[in-house]
Amino acid sequence: MKFGYFDDVNKEYVITTPTTPYPWINYLGSQEFFSLISNTAGGYSFYKDAKLRRITRFRYNNVPLDLGGGRYYYLYDEGDFWSPGWAPAKKELQSYECRHGMGYTTIKGKRNDVSTEVTFFVPLNFNGEVHKVVVKNESDKAKTLKLFSFLEWCLWNADDDDRNFQRNFSTGEVEIKGSVIYHKTEYKERRNHYAFFSVNAPIAGFDSDRESFIGTYGGFDAPKAVVAGQSNNSVADGWSPCASHCLEMELQPGETKEYVFILGYVENPVEDKWESKGVINKTKAEAMIAQFATTADADKALAELKADWDRLLSKYILESGEEKLNRQVNIWNQYQCMVTFNLSRSASYFESGVGRGMGFRDSNQDILGFVHQIPDRARERIIDIASTQLQDGGAYHQYQPLTKRGNDAIGGNFNDDPLWLILAVVAYVKETGDYSILDVMTPFDNDMSVATPLKDHLKRSFDHVINNLGPHGLPLIGRADWNDCLNLNCFSTEPGESFQTTTSKDGRVAESVMIAGMFTYIGGLYARLMEKVGDMDEAKRADSEVDKMREVIMKDGWDGKWFIRAYDDFGKKVGSEECEEGKIFIESQGFCVMGGCGIEDGKAIEALDSVEERLGTKYGLVLNNPAFTRYVVEYGEISTYPAGYKENAGIFCHNNAWIMCAEACVGRGDKAYDYYTRIAPAFLEDISEIHRLEPYVYPQMAAGKDARRFGEAKNSWLTGTASWNFVAISQFILGIQPDFDGLKIDPAIPKAWDGYKVTREFRGDIFEVEVKNPNHVSKGVSSLVVDGKEVAGNVIPMFNDGKRHTVVATMG
Ligand code: BGC
Repeated sequence: MKFGYFDDVNKEYVITTPTTPYPWINYLGSQEFFSLISNTAGGYSFYKDAKLRRITRFRYNNVPLDLGGGRYYYLYDEGDFWSPGWAPAKKELQSYECRHGMGYTTIKGKRNDVSTEVTFFVPLNFNGEVHKVVVKNESDKAKTLKLFSFLEWCLWNADDDDRNFQRNFSTGEVEIKGSVIYHKTEYKERRNHYAFFSVNAPIAGFDSDRESFIGTYGGFDAPKAVVAGQSNNSVADGWSPCASHCLEMELQPGETKEYVFILGYVENPVEDKWESKGVINKTKAEAMIAQFATTADADKALAELKADWDRLLSKYILESGEEKLNRQVNIWNQYQCMVTFNLSRSASYFESGVGRGMGFRDSNQDILGFVHQIPDRARERIIDIASTQLQDGGAYHQYQPLTKRGNDAIGGNFNDDPLWLILAVVAYVKETGDYSILDVMTPFDNDMSVATPLKDHLKRSFDHVINNLGPHGLPLIGRADWNDCLNLNCFSTEPGESFQTTTSKDGRVAESVMIAGMFTYIGGLYARLMEKVGDMDEAKRADSEVDKMREVIMKDGWDGKWFIRAYDDFGKKVGSEECEEGKIFIESQGFCVMGGCGIEDGKAIEALDSVEERLGTKYGLVLNNPAFTRYVVEYGEISTYPAGYKENAGIFCHNNAWIMCAEACVGRGDKAYDYYTRIAPAFLEDISEIHRLEPYVYPQMAAGKDARRFGEAKNSWLTGTASWNFVAISQFILGIQPDFDGLKIDPAIPKAWDGYKVTREFRGDIFEVEVKNPNHVSKGVSSLVVDGKEVAGNVIPMFNDGKRHTVVATMG
């Protein structure tokens, strides 16, 4: 069942009912000011950091769902009232539509023949949300209407806001000046920042105290002021400051009125101290308001935003015969990559914004799917991440975006982390050809006195693996590798202690075949990078370490039909036929094959066949099989999940992509693409009632075959799935691969395909690549013609002339 449809021309998903199976959200902003917005305008905003600079309040896991806060509008018409986005008033509407587009959302609702359309967006280079509101009287009689706005301020630190009521109920301060409501509560120490909510028209009234607006025992669905059709002009003093305007309008039949509301954030320089308590310098806010004095200003900024997205998305354009694939590749997957790049795992409808900041592992992987869009931002991010690395090559697992400092509470010791940095840097260099990034003096643990060139950070990442090998010569897993929940050293004998942080045994010798596989793949890329910068000794050393690791994997990491997953702290195999449950895991299969293990002797194919047989389902590949039905204390968190959920045999979309890549490596394009379509959201639109989450973005996981709710997705938007699936489809399946010396064409496609076209901007030139498949093969380019001339091999040479070049790659 569908709850909307794709409008590919406008790059929008159009939701046709407010009661989607779960709130279907969008993101506004892609620089410093960010917002989450659901299809009924729920959600919140923050500046840079979802925890430390939360601007509006949102209650997670609220009852009713998605009424935890938002930017709400209410229409009042002679005693009747409603919300154009249905919620929060939830009055029946004559019509409803929500269009989620690239960085904007338009919600339209009609009741009493009054239609209201609100377009929400964050303009480029603007620290605020603009709401363009258009009210139209579609009836045949004149109407006197009132429009109420409403949002609730968060007291900056979202974590504290949610807990510290003994303090927070006495700190709230606001100021009202004309049609602008300023929120100027200070947070603990004095800071010269504030927020405001304005409208470009005179107001009939306002409220800035939530209780006055809503009523002591009222709710967002029927606020006291709206029911009465009358604001209270309340000025908040402590408690819960909010911002609500009331506008009155006379509308003749067919007449329209338009307004621009701005939710803005202002940060004055630190030295520009507040003159005296509570007096804020409003210059910047006034300038922001003046920027959007008219709806024409808003329209212009929205057009600029759309043009910017058109530009970003023009860097990789696929024309294939498959509409779903085109929209997935050309629009939504790339859009999701930008959002995950910006937000890491911090703020979504599943990530509360207070739990996690940026992840070392996560953010490095996010670069893979984003780097072609804005390489300069990827470069900056790489340096930020590398600056949190520790001198031994290990890393803080997370850091806070505002402070950019490693999070001590989480610490490090996730032994896969260092390798992802190499992968991100290689992706950046291949995309841009910019080797100078390797020379950037980069601190360790943010300490500039111990800075070394980034190249040295990569060496330390590489060495971190070989300096931490276990009894079989496989990499020690540390606290966990990519699979956060496989905590092989962390079991606890102390009741009540967390398996995440407790190490109760001295040995800590658990080893990861996944990290070993990663090492063969990423270590190989590191060696190639060293060759390119002329460090032949290092390249040779890296190659020899990688070869050694491959041997160890084939000797002690091979189980007979697939790669084992790990050795636990007692030296017992994890992910082996010998195990009672969890006999096979997905992660090591993907990475070992990508790293070239078992290619010559057929073991790679055997491993991938085992994946299909044991892990395959119609909704994607499960992470492990059989699912754990009992708690395995030596494995930690993984077996705490019920069978079929999350890391216990859930369909983790992230690592499905590794199998697609591995299948592409062994030339099985049919299988790679089949796996792609099983989890790609646009292909699941028709089963939205089962899948439940947005059909335009990937979730982190869907329930596996062992779960009662098989196929039901959770945790949409912020997941490495976005990047990895874009890499899998754009580079491994469609085969348009940035390489050190040019653009490589190496598809692995279904045999039935006749061909397709990709327009790819690469290092300033535009390549119009036509892939032809006359002999219906899956792999292998037999001829490459660039600008009419035959080129040997399958790498398009670089022109660096900023021009368009035509390429015909014939497979066979
Ligand atoms: C984390 C990833 C991790 C994955 C698997 C996600 O929630 O963000 O870092 O690799 O779970 O455990």
